[in-house]
Amino acid sequence: MYTASVYMRGLKFGFVPTTILAMVDASIGGKNGVDVGAYKNLVGMIRQPDFLLFDYSMLQTLPQHEWINGFAEIIKHACIKDADMFVLLEQNSIENFQSDKTLLAALIEKNVQIKTTVVVADEFEKGDRKLLNFGHTLGHAIENIYQLPHGHAVSVGMVAACKLSEELNHFDTTEKQRVKHLIEKYQLTSSISFDKESIWDTLKMDKKRVSNEMNFILLNKIGEAIIKPIPMQQLEKLISQSL
Ligand SMILES: NC(=O)c1ccc[n+]([C@@H]2O[C@H](COP(=O)([O-])OP(=O)(O)OC[C@H]3O[C@@H](n4cnc5c(N)ncnc54)[C@H](O)[C@@H]3O)[C@@H](O)[C@H]2O)c1
Ligand SMILES: [Zn+2]
Repeated sequence: MYTASVYMRGLKFGFVPTTILAMVDASIGGKNGVDVGAYKNLVGMIRQPDFLLFDYSMLQTLPQHEWINGFAEIIKHACIKDADMFVLLEQNSIENFQSDKTLLAALIEKNVQIKTTVVVADEFEKGDRKLLNFGHTLGHAIENIYQLPHGHAVSVGMVAACKLSEELNHFDTTEKQRVKHLIEKYQLTSSISFDKESIWDTLKMDKKRVSNEMNFILLNKIGEAIIKPIPMQQLEKLISQSL
């Protein structure tokens, strides 16, 4: 995608996503990027595909661990934008979605709608699109250092972001527990013991850092997120003491 975007100043391209993650997230929004050393997606651009072609029958062969991975982004969408979908996820399980094609198609369509709405309103991430980074700031740092699959790293990041939301944003403790339980219900990782110093060293390099602050995504409540600039000094303290 990156190559197509830069070759001769850009070729037309389209996607046929074959994973849950790609259907609900990666194929939508036109972001591309390549990692440079420890820097995630440092070189890249935003360029929209000409078409998307979804064929749900592809998912019949998708390995179980890739299903699990994809649900992290679905849970993310529910946390930041859709409390009703959060409840739907609580009432179901991966197995339900795997055995009921109609239920699965409705879930994927809902997620496409959520991401598309955000991207159309803010293609170049000046505002609302930043909310899609929920769980990703810490998640990317963990993914880089511990080689965790993307979904698991993001889910660890989401639980950590919920803790910070509780501490800095009056996010309800019961709701924090609901997020953690949902993540565990979908067989994702809710916490790992990580070396705080090396995580901090990687986190400092994140592109979401703006001068001496990091734009962190916190929850007000399930289904509603905000962008909170946290001074780097305070963030360092929070990571070493609260996570
Ligand atoms: N642009 C974005 O906003 C964004 C967001 C998240 C991830 N990404 C990136 O998008 C890329 C795509 O992620 P992905 O989840 O599609 O991973 P992927 O294409 O790497 O697929 C994961 C694994 O599943 C296998 N696989 C895929 N579809 C299958 C199927 N239908 N049946 C059997 N096996 C199948 C693949 O061979 C591979 O081993 C990743 O590199 C990720 O970093 C981009
Ligand atoms: Zn992601």
